[in-house]
Amino acid sequence: MRAITIPEPGGPDALVWAEVPDPEPGPGEVVVHVRASAVNRADLLQRQGHYPPPPGAPAYPGLECSGVIGAIGADVTGWAVGQEVCALLAGGGYAERVAVPAGQLLPVPDGVGLVDAAALPEVACTVWSNVVRLAGLAKGETLLVHGGGSGIGTFAVQLGTALGATVVVTARSAKHERLRELGAAHAIDYREQDFVEEVRRVTDGRGADVILDIMGASYLARNVAALATGGRLVVIGMQGGRKAELDLGALLAKRASVAATALRSRPLAEKAAIVAGVREQVWPLVADGAVRPVVDRRLPMAEAADAHRLVESNDHVGKVLLTVD
Ligand SMILES: NC(=O)c1ccc[n+]([C@@H]2O[C@H](COP(=O)([O-])OP(=O)(O)OC[C@H]3O[C@@H](n4cnc5c(N)ncnc54)[C@H](OP(=O)(O)O)[C@@H]3O)[C@@H](O)[C@H]2O)c1
Repeated sequence: MRAITIPEPGGPDALVWAEVPDPEPGPGEVVVHVRASAVNRADLLQRQGHYPPPPGAPAYPGLECSGVIGAIGADVTGWAVGQEVCALLAGGGYAERVAVPAGQLLPVPDGVGLVDAAALPEVACTVWSNVVRLAGLAKGETLLVHGGGSGIGTFAVQLGTALGATVVVTARSAKHERLRELGAAHAIDYREQDFVEEVRRVTDGRGADVILDIMGASYLARNVAALATGGRLVVIGMQGGRKAELDLGALLAKRASVAATALRSRPLAEKAAIVAGVREQVWPLVADGAVRPVVDRRLPMAEAADAHRLVESNDHVGKVLLTVD
């Protein structure tokens, strides 16, 4: 089969579409014939040599895929050869075939095409596990989503809205109209406006109940300032650095909490539990159209370098997909 390999870490042209050995399904795994994968921010870091795959994961990038089950390993029940699926991966999605632990498979939701289903697993699992399972977002609360135009952000806007929250986003203003269409009640241009002031203004001074943050250090103090009493800040990205000072007094006065999580390195059983929760709670929202895949562009897998350039530019809204014919 062919896969996107990284012979030497570097810029987008470090991605090379090359012949590699076929994967075999181990016990508890299936092999998926990939129809599409999606570019995640983490893939850019992996390409640069900063985010190696966890032990046991395929060497190729790609944290999610859609496709058709081609082979089934020992001890797998409930899945059949020929079934259309999408999957959360620890790596290897940028390939014609990938071995997947069966607990990370999801059916293609009703009403979603096989290619576009590749836009869902990573964002659905990340957003649901952090915003719903960990932070416990409730109906009527305010959710602040940083980077509303990202793959993660466009999904969080829709899920938060579908759950009855008021969603506020930060994003460049060129993306605001699209984010309002997806359900955002307020959009803040973080380059022109102070998001703490804006969040306070639109919540009558209360602040955000839940914040989904991708910036890390550069936003930590302002995120704590933007939290409501009892607020929950969940950091999932460090685009603004990893080390910052945390004012525990400010947190304590608000009885607020800060958490930081990563999905890729979790044990298989935890990933399977998240995937099961997504299937039960999120897939019905996708099937009834309340939450949709947001696809900026579909490019052939061999053009992965161009897809990375696009994601690096931040000019995309939602997901950039890589397809295999
Ligand atoms: N921990 C986990 O398990 C996990 C899982 C998945 C993703 N993530 C993280 O989630 C983040 C989003 O991932 P993705 O693949 O969806 O990213 P993406 O589509 O590449 O989007 C990145 C976004 O960052 C925004 N941005 C840049 N500077 C900003 C700032 N100062 N304030 C607000 N937004 C800013 C850009 O929007 P503008 O054009 O508006 O600037 C862009 O939309 C990444 O940091 C990724 O590492 C974490």
